[in-house]
Amino acid sequence: MSGRDVALIKLGGSVITDKATLRVFRKDACRRLAHELSVWRGPLAIAHGAGSFGHILAKEHRLHEGFKEETQLKQIALVQRDVRELNVRVLEALIDSGVSAVSVPPAAAASFDRGKVVDFDPTLIDKTMALGLAPVTFGDVVPDVSMRFSICSGDLMMYELARHLKPRKVIFCADVDGVFTGDPKKGDDASLIPALDREAIAGMKRDAPVSADVTGSIHGKLEMMLAIAGHCEKCIILNGNVPGRLESAMRGEDIPSTTVLPG
Ligand code: IPE
Repeated sequence: MSGRDVALIKLGGSVITDKATLRVFRKDACRRLAHELSVWRGPLAIAHGAGSFGHILAKEHRLHEGFKEETQLKQIALVQRDVRELNVRVLEALIDSGVSAVSVPPAAAASFDRGKVVDFDPTLIDKTMALGLAPVTFGDVVPDVSMRFSICSGDLMMYELARHLKPRKVIFCADVDGVFTGDPKKGDDASLIPALDREAIAGMKRDAPVSADVTGSIHGKLEMMLAIAGHCEKCIILNGNVPGRLESAMRGEDIPSTTVLPG
């Protein structure tokens, strides 16, 4: 399945979980977003982040650095269990809002080496979508050729899905309105940047914020969005915590957001 009718949506871990507290699902936010995205009439593919179901234990046990010691094995098992639990909750929210969603863990579609995808096999995604189902993938701990295991982010799967599906819309639901000239969470007098291109992204400050994340900074996310922008009609980041924003974006209406431009 590929084509311009596809919408590809990332539900950020910072929206569907409380990122600061281990395994806290933000049920109301997730159900609202599921309802908002269900207005899309064409095929849907979805990825969600791990939030506090993944990042906290992964960071504590350095799972993003690959195999170091046997004690990590139990932690891999725990994180895999936790992100699957989160995935089931996301599936439930989607199914309840009328989206026939099925789980596609990253390792069912991709092979990894040094934290990068070395082989993407879209068979399961294609068969799922050909049936009219919506594949839902997620950030996960995955087997890795050199590191023995590594972390695959939902964003990395977004890139692989975009490259394969060539969607019309790609939407990242975050916990901020988009990309700002400063840090609005720190009270900076910052304004929302409506559109960013390669040059603007390259010129942005590279000092990565200190956070509980094992999958990188906003700069890494923007690089990924830039790569995605070359494979879709429109690639945007919006605030999934503001009711109605995702739905408006699905309907093609103008909302506060940042569009990442190709080229
Ligand atoms: C992280 O995935 C995966 C693990 C930590 C296991 P993401 O990087 O996509 O998650 P969020 O959106 O930042 O929470």
